[in-house]
Amino acid sequence: MSLMITNGRIITAGEDFTADLFIQDEIISAIGAHLPMQADRVIDAAGLLVMPGGIDPHVHLALPTMGTISSDDYTTGTRAALFGGTTTVIDFVTQTKGHALHAALDEWRMRSDGRACGDYGFHMIVTDLNSMTKSEIAPLIRDEGITSFKVFMAYKDTLMIDDGRIVELMNEAKRHGGLVAVHATNGEMIDALKMKFCSEGKLTPLYHYFSQPEITESEATARFARLARATGAVSYVVHMSSEGALNAVRDAGRRNQKVFAETCIQYLLLDAAAYGQSMDGAKFVMSPPLRLQKDRDALWSGIDQGTVQVVATDHCPFTWEQKLAGKDDFSKIPNGGAGIEHRLELLFSEGVHKGRISPGRFVEVTSTNAAKIFGLFPRKGSIAVGSDADLILFDPDEEHVISSSTHHMNVDYSAYEGWRVKGKTKTVILRGMVAVERDELCVKPGFGRYLKRNTVSGVI
Ligand code: URP
Ligand code: ZN
Ligand code: ZN
Repeated sequence: MSLMITNGRIITAGEDFTADLFIQDEIISAIGAHLPMQADRVIDAAGLLVMPGGIDPHVHLALPTMGTISSDDYTTGTRAALFGGTTTVIDFVTQTKGHALHAALDEWRMRSDGRACGDYGFHMIVTDLNSMTKSEIAPLIRDEGITSFKVFMAYKDTLMIDDGRIVELMNEAKRHGGLVAVHATNGEMIDALKMKFCSEGKLTPLYHYFSQPEITESEATARFARLARATGAVSYVVHMSSEGALNAVRDAGRRNQKVFAETCIQYLLLDAAAYGQSMDGAKFVMSPPLRLQKDRDALWSGIDQGTVQVVATDHCPFTWEQKLAGKDDFSKIPNGGAGIEHRLELLFSEGVHKGRISPGRFVEVTSTNAAKIFGLFPRKGSIAVGSDADLILFDPDEEHVISSSTHHMNVDYSAYEGWRVKGKTKTVILRGMVAVERDELCVKPGFGRYLKRNTVSGVI
C-alpha cells in the first residue's frame, strides 16, 4: 500500500517547506517537489500544514487510583488522542508496593494488549525499590523497551519513595541507559496542610489548591535536581506547573546541568480561578493544582527559552459521578483531568496564533522533543525518509468550539467547554494508514502498537 501527500506545507522542528511525501507501507520513503511515483492513493494537502503526529508522553489510561479507575481506557483514550492528532502516547505502569515491577507490567499489558487505536509505550513508576526490584531495571530497559522510571516525592504509604531510594534508582537507571522522571512535590508539607484544612472543616475543592502551594513543588524540584546532579542521571520533571519549579530547573542549568522539563496544556491555559467556591471546582482537581497567571506566563517563557521541552497532558479523566466521591471532602476527589484530545489544537491556537511560539517550536514540544528524550527518535517525531509515516494534516485557520457534547474522550464535561480555537486536525496518518479522516475513525482497536523504546542519551 502506498500513499502520496501532495502540496502540503511541511513543518518539522527545524524546517518549513512545501513538498510531496511518498509513503510506502508504514514508512516515509521519499520527500520532494513533484515526486514522480504512482501511489495507491493521493491526498492533496494544499493549504494544510503537514506535521509529525503528536506524542503525548504523559497519560494515564484505565488507571486504578483513589478507589476508582480513570475513565478513558486504551481504546477510548487512544481514539480520542488520534482525533486530535496525537498518534503516540506513553502511559505509566504503576508498581504496587511489595510487588514486582513485572507484576505491574503484566497488569498493564492485560489492559492494553489488542485494545489501542494509536501507538503507545510505557514508563514504569517505581514505588518500592529493593534488591529484587532493582534487579528488574536492566531487563525492563533491555527486553521491554521501558527506558524511563518515574518516582513520586509525595503520597506517603502508597507511591512515595525516599530520597535514598531515588538516588539508588538514579544510579541503576544511569548504569543501563535509563532516565528518571519525577512527580516533584513535597509530600510531607502537603499532608500537613491537608490535615490542617480538614481539621478546620475547610473541605471544598479550593482547599486542594491551598494544600499544594508553590513551595511544595519548587522545593521538591530543586531537591530532585540536586540528586540528579550528584548521580549524573538523566532526569525529567513531569507536569511542571509553577514559576518556582521552573526556576529550580533554571538554577540547575546555571550549575551546567540539564534537567528536562515537561509542562501540561492545562498549566499554560487555566489557573486557580477555576476552583471557585463550589463543587464545580472538582473538575480541576489535579496534582499539582492549577496555579496563577504569573505561573502561566513563566511557563510560556520557559517554552520560549527552551527550558521546558515538552507540553503533555497528564490525561487522567474522571466522570462527574467519579468526582462526586469528594463532594464533602476535597481530599477524596480523584485527582486528574482530561486533555489528550485537544492538546495540539489548544496549543496551536493559544501558542502559535497568539505569537507565543513558532510553528517549529510547536512541533518540538508536541512531538519531536518527546521522541528524542524518550528514545523514539527518529522513528517517531520526525518527517524524514525512513521515519514512521505518523503525520497530521492540519488546517491552521479552521475555527471550532470545544465541547463535551462533541469530544471523543470518555468524560462528561470539558475543562475547555465553549472555547473557540483556531486550527483543526483534519487527517491523521499512523504508520502510513489513514487513521482519522472527515471526523471519522478509520482504524480499529488493536491497530495501535506497543513501542519498545531505546535507551536515552540525555542530549537532544
Ligand atoms: O492529578 C494527577 N496528576 N493525576 C495523575 C497522576 C499523576 O500524579 O501524574
Ligand atoms: Zn504525577
Ligand atoms: Zn500523571
